This record gives sequence, C-alpha cells and structure tokens, in this order.
Amino acid sequence: MTTALVTGANKGLGRETVRRLAAAGWDVFLGARDEARGRKAAAELADDGVTVRFVPLDVTSDESVAAAVDTVQAHAGRLDVLVNNAGVGGPPNPPAEVRADDLRQLFEVNVFGPVRVTNAFLPLLRAAEKPRIVMVSSGMGSFAVSNDPRWFGLVPPTLGYPASKAALNMITSQYARALDGVRINAVDPGYTATDLNGHTGTQTVSEGTDAIVRLAGLGSNEPTGGFFNREGVVPW
Ligand SMILES: NC(=O)c1ccc[n+]([C@@H]2O[C@H](COP(=O)([O-])OP(=O)(O)OC[C@H]3O[C@@H](n4cnc5c(N)ncnc54)[C@H](OP(=O)(O)O)[C@@H]3O)[C@@H](O)[C@H]2O)c1
Repeated sequence: MTTALVTGANKGLGRETVRRLAAAGWDVFLGARDEARGRKAAAELADDGVTVRFVPLDVTSDESVAAAVDTVQAHAGRLDVLVNNAGVGGPPNPPAEVRADDLRQLFEVNVFGPVRVTNAFLPLLRAAEKPRIVMVSSGMGSFAVSNDPRWFGLVPPTLGYPASKAALNMITSQYARALDGVRINAVDPGYTATDLNGHTGTQTVSEGTDAIVRLAGLGSNEPTGGFFNREGVVPW
C-alpha cells in the first residue's frame, strides 16, 4: 500500500489532499501542528468513511519533525509520498512597510519548513520504491506571473509570500538535480477558497488539489523538477 504524509493537513488543501489520497486506498498520515485540530480533522474524515492516521507535526520544529519521522518509521518503515503543504500567508503589506521579522516568520514555515521536513524524511523516502515529493507552491512565486501586466491590478505587490514561494520553487529545482530516483515537483493549486484567503478563492478545494494529487502519483509517469497547475506547466 502506498504510504503518504501531508503537512498542514487539518484543513484546506492539505485536508482535501489527505481525503483524496486515502479514498484512493493509500495509507495516509494527516500532519498537523495542533493536536486537537489534527485529531478533529481525522475524526471528521473517519465519519465520512475515510480512515487516516493523525501525526503531530509542526514544520518549524526539529523535535516535532523528528518525532513524526519516528512515527512513520515505526508504522511503515518507509514513505512513498511527501506532500509539503503547510503554509502561511503573512501580512500583505506594501513592500516599504514590510518588517524583516515578518519575512523571517513567513520563511520559517513556507521555506525552511519544507527543507526541514524533506531532509528529515529523506531516509524513509529512499526506502520507498518510487519516492515522490510535492512542494505546494503558488503562482505568486512565479517571476513570469509577477511580471505579467494582466495581474498588476489584481495582485498588489508585497514581499513575503511571493518571495517565499519563489524560494521554494528554486529549492525544488535544486533538490530535483540532487536527488536521483526521487521525483520532486512544485505545484500551484490555483486560487482556492480556504482560510488562507478568507475563502475569497474562486476554486473549490477539490479543484485546488487536482495538481497535488496528480503529482503525488495518482497518475503515472510523474515528471521531476517541474512546476505545474491543474492545467499543465506553470512558467517559473
Ligand atoms: N488557497 C489558495 O488559493 C492557495 C493558492 C496557492 C498556494 N496555496 C498554498 O497551499 C498550501 C495550503 O494552503 P491552504 O489554502 O489550504 O491554507 P489553510 O487552509 O490556511 O491551511 C494551511 C495549513 O498550514 C498549517 N500550518 C501553518 N503553520 C504550520 C506549521 N508551523 N506547521 C505545520 N502546519 C502549519 C495550518 O495549520 P493551523 O490550522 O494549525 O494554522 C493549516 O493546516 C499553502 O502552502 C499555501 O501557500 C494556497
């Protein structure tokens, strides 16, 4: 059975990713930093007939990530698919009003978190036959999108969130060059109604997870080192 772990999965896109992968018959760990929220999400999925395993996981904590590795090791001895989904939006202040400390907190979750989690789980991923990693990025991390005048009026400039996702994209690209045998890709879910944007997103979580579950391996012949949305390739 395919074993997967999704971070930040007590709600939003992470929770729906867990639901879809578990509904496909996978053995799925629902990672959440808050025990009560994580257990509640797992219990609600169970009420809907989908069984998942809750694992406490705060992507900003070495100790928490190490404990999650031990849990997956003890249960499965390997990890086939890691979905680095946990992310925060941060204050959308104009660039001149952004404080360095705001960026540091945002990068701790959106950039250092996926690196911390990926490196900690690499031994278990290496133990899998066909390991895959999905980095949940954003179109806002794309230089091509950022420089496209069609978006200028719609997305006001800010520093933290777009820069964190651009950094995550480059990290994905560098991992892809370094990790032989591990397929790793960045995904732009698209503008999806979740708490991250006060539910202003225009897509459902089902639409928003299409690219994530495809790159997680529900399809076949997954690529590596790319950036994708539900329609196809996203320009870097
Ligand atoms: N929604 C969109 O339109 C959109 C578009 C592009 C990209 N994305 C990306 O998609 C991913 C999921 O976002 P979402 O829209 O589903 O947002 P969401 O509903 O706000 O969910 C974010 C999840 O991340 C978790 N999280 C935050 N800090 C964490 C930490 N330190 N350790 C572990 N988990 C942590 C949250 O946990 P708590 O509940 O405990 O806070 C929550 O479960 C993010 O990476 C986001 O950047 C979203």
